[in-house]
Amino acid sequence: MSDLLTVEGLRVDYLTAGAPFTAVRDISFQIQPNEILGLAGESGCGKSTVAYALMRLHKPPALVRRGQILFEGRDVLSFTDTQLRAWRWSEVSMVFQSAMNSLNPVMTIFRQFHDMLRAHGPITRADAMDRTAEMLEMVGIPADRMQAHPHQLSGGMRQRVALALALTLLPKLIIMDEPTTALDVVVQREILQEVLRLREKLGFSVLFITHDIALMAQISDRIGIMRAGEIVEIGTASQIVTAPVHDYTRSLWDAMPILANAAEKGPAHAV
Ligand SMILES: Nc1ncnc2c1ncn2[C@@H]1O[C@H](COP(=O)(O)OP(=O)(O)O)[C@@H](O)[C@H]1O
Ligand SMILES: [Mg+2]
Repeated sequence: MSDLLTVEGLRVDYLTAGAPFTAVRDISFQIQPNEILGLAGESGCGKSTVAYALMRLHKPPALVRRGQILFEGRDVLSFTDTQLRAWRWSEVSMVFQSAMNSLNPVMTIFRQFHDMLRAHGPITRADAMDRTAEMLEMVGIPADRMQAHPHQLSGGMRQRVALALALTLLPKLIIMDEPTTALDVVVQREILQEVLRLREKLGFSVLFITHDIALMAQISDRIGIMRAGEIVEIGTASQIVTAPVHDYTRSLWDAMPILANAAEKGPAHAV
């Protein structure tokens, strides 16, 4: 099977006053079609830097210094702005930790769907409303909520809206950066179930980023463990949970009592 995404030797520096700081050192991984790859590691290890660089959403002082990002064999780092605009949302989209970073607080939900749809091709208002209704219902939100503003929804509902928005143009890859970190455990579980269900239905790949490796083990097919800007270990979820090779991975498990349990059962795909 050919890779959906290939990342080869990626390095990202922050050019701060004084010496540049290398946040992502030399990272390589692949994501297959329909695969959920988890990227786990402690806060500050460079996960979000990877996510933003992959979508070319990184901004100064961040600079991609080295490496290659191939999406279906196409060289993302050489895309023009026009190519990038066409590519984002339609082929790869992103759900951020806080829906407030994905959603515009002063615009109704419908307006945000409408703007995104219009940016990718001509569409009538009526068709945009139908598509918005369909997507909201797909993530369990009544269609009439499209007239609400984000602040009128609960945190869990906002995150569902962000997920629906990310899925609207049927992208092949969704990058989720701590998508459930701000939510309570019950809502977190519901959203993850939703992601697994939608993946079955629509068949997309996910790069799932979190500092919570227990959560990661429940949703991922493969897991990469990041530390200080590098991937120290990558393998199937069951290998990373039950037979981690790297000391650092083991220490992450040991730091999590809940994982003793998960390790016995192996990664569960029903969350
Ligand atoms: N704008 C920035 N300027 C300078 N350093 C940054 C900036 N953003 C992030 N960093 C640094 O890069 C490292 C990785 O950050 P980040 O990718 O956000 O980690 P994570 O998402 O794993 O918590 C951290 O040490 C952080 O302090
Ligand atoms: Mg982060």
